[in-house]
Amino acid sequence: MSTTEEKLAKSLTAESTELIPYLPYLLQDLWELGSSPKDILELIRKHVQVSKKTRVLDLACGKGAVSVHLARELGCRVKGMDMIPEFIEFAKGKVREFGVEVRCEFVVGDITEFVKTEKDYDIVILGAVGDVLGNPEETVTQLRNTVKQGGYIIIDDAYGNEKSSVIYPTREQWLGVFEKTGVKLVAEKIIDEDELASVNNEQQEWIVKRVRELKDKLPEKAPLFDSYIRSQQAECDELENEISGVTMLLQVD
Ligand SMILES: C[S@@+](CC[C@H](N)C(=O)[O-])C[C@H]1O[C@@H](n2cnc3c(N)ncnc32)[C@H](O)[C@@H]1O
Repeated sequence: MSTTEEKLAKSLTAESTELIPYLPYLLQDLWELGSSPKDILELIRKHVQVSKKTRVLDLACGKGAVSVHLARELGCRVKGMDMIPEFIEFAKGKVREFGVEVRCEFVVGDITEFVKTEKDYDIVILGAVGDVLGNPEETVTQLRNTVKQGGYIIIDDAYGNEKSSVIYPTREQWLGVFEKTGVKLVAEKIIDEDELASVNNEQQEWIVKRVRELKDKLPEKAPLFDSYIRSQQAECDELENEISGVTMLLQVD
């Protein structure tokens, strides 16, 4: 079984936990780390009634791009949590920049613990976090416990195909999980491949630049930093060619 640290590294496409201390430096130029705030906003706007009282929980929120956009655009209350303190500091800076201090709160911590105590949200979001909460069935079950009856779960993950289904469930397999866990798929948004390729290329350029800087400072760790570029590229290729990135909006029965 993977440790929390191994899953944390994997959630940010790092092959080794040795990379964890360097991730804030490597990702310093990026705000969005996985999910598209635009796609999540679109799904919520179309399908969920939101008011100033709506409470949203953004688990493993990264640098808070989704949380801050939702608080700003929808006027709802958002609580974001992530394990990397530098990401949470960055998110707090964005809260001030976007003037959403009264609606947005960020805390550092382990979501595998938070899911046991956070309750009664209207919407919970798990964006591009992989298997940190376990397999899809374990993940949905734990997310379900954090929302009210009739509340919503948003998961950003991927649909695999027959070839990739060992790692990524197919759409049919996801639907089986939803049936078993008592949630229904309200809507889904498949990532636009051209948009994805352009975001990936831009992000990869920033990361390559930061890897170069780190290699100058710490030449003995060059293979470690090079491995990060390779795994980032492999993930981009996989998403662009083999699997379909998808944001799913689910409602608790
Ligand atoms: C690919 S990023 C996605 C961030 C954000 N949801 C987004 O879409 O921009 C994955 C995030 O999961 C966080 N993470 C991984 N394991 C975690 C855990 N056990 N508790 C809290 N955060 C965790 C990482 O620190 C990282 O910020």
